[in-house]
Amino acid sequence: MYSSFVLASFASLLASIPSVFAGFSSSSQSNLAIYWGQNSYNQGTGSLAQQRLSYYCANTEFNIIPLAFLITIANPSLNFANAGNNCTAISGSNLFYCPQLEQDIAECQSTYGKTILLSVGGSTYSEGGFSSSAAAVTAANNLWSIFGPPVSGSSSPRPFGNSVIDGFDFDFESTVSNMVPFANQLRSLMTASTSTTGKSYFLTAAPQCPYPDASDGAMLAGAVYFDAIWVQFYNNYCGLQSFTVGSSTQNNFNYATWDNWAKTVSLNPNVKIMLGIPGNTGAAGSGYESGSTLASIISYCKSFSSFGGVMIWDMSQVYANSGFLSSVSSDLGLPPSGGGGGTTTTTKIATPTTLTTVTKTTASPTTTPTGSGTVAQWGQCGGIGYTGPTVCQSPYTCVANSQWWSQCE
Ligand SMILES: *[C@@H]1O[C@H](CO)[C@@H](O)[C@H](O)[C@H]1NC(C)=O
Repeated sequence: MYSSFVLASFASLLASIPSVFAGFSSSSQSNLAIYWGQNSYNQGTGSLAQQRLSYYCANTEFNIIPLAFLITIANPSLNFANAGNNCTAISGSNLFYCPQLEQDIAECQSTYGKTILLSVGGSTYSEGGFSSSAAAVTAANNLWSIFGPPVSGSSSPRPFGNSVIDGFDFDFESTVSNMVPFANQLRSLMTASTSTTGKSYFLTAAPQCPYPDASDGAMLAGAVYFDAIWVQFYNNYCGLQSFTVGSSTQNNFNYATWDNWAKTVSLNPNVKIMLGIPGNTGAAGSGYESGSTLASIISYCKSFSSFGGVMIWDMSQVYANSGFLSSVSSDLGLPPSGGGGGTTTTTKIATPTTLTTVTKTTASPTTTPTGSGTVAQWGQCGGIGYTGPTVCQSPYTCVANSQWWSQCE
């Protein structure tokens, strides 16, 4: 696949890469997380379909990969879109064993220094959390036996075999109960493991930008110690599209509100806030920015000490968006990578929502421009704070995804 010359020069590059590439760093403003697992660009075959995890890990332009998603918790189950085809069912559970992921997680961590998180939830998550704090603690213990360090003699199903993730990410987008005891139990299991093995673990969350976040709010209200949160600045009135270039004060774009959260509310006052952005035009209903506008937004956010870098939804979108990853990486002040980043494409397929499982995807291209007073497919048509048109172009109807976001589909 690679010539030995490329391998040799890559090896010398590796020897000199800065420590930011040794996974998530709480002292860096240049962390870059990209979700993998949902194939949201929605190509079934070819180079722009979601590839196996290790394909992306050689790219030094990003250092964190949340795996999306663990879609149920009580009786755990995973959805990794087309990557699930390479897994086999584990009898007696709803999980499957993924030998490629077992191999790739280990390789991504040890060879490329990637931080690999398991993201829990997604927009289809509908269990509503837990009926009691005892049930929440039991569920956390169960997840730890499945995804934490293997324990000899344990009969827990192990989708990633002997590989061990670097922590958990929460992406809850509906009402959830008893998440604080769930998160705190995971945190204490991780802390205990660190003290015996020395391995670091991380807890992150992906709230939507309206503050306070409707779903993760209880955890973010000073109750759980997060290492980082990546705020979804898309699909909402407070997203990137609301940024006023050239202004030191912002109205709807509310990074400053989240910075204030970090300093006055968060249990971890040194928590990093990362700017969550769509990776392509069709990756979200609103909030996609690129070029000099995105550079201005990142530069503005860098002026806050809480800023920890960028999160992008998702890998398949980024790799189908030629040049985008390199420009974000350069906006963050990172050196160029020898890694991939996609080829130019002519067809862009819109996916319905972001941070969602794509099992409900309808693959119709976005084509029609918004006429006056009506909203095109996937465009916003309602939600708290939204003041634009609410009528969808035929044949689409306005569907509420959350109290903050309705879209034409
Ligand atoms: C599935 O396995 C094939 C064969 O090893 C591999 O080429 C492909 O990249 C894998 N796909 C995913 C999404 O993991």
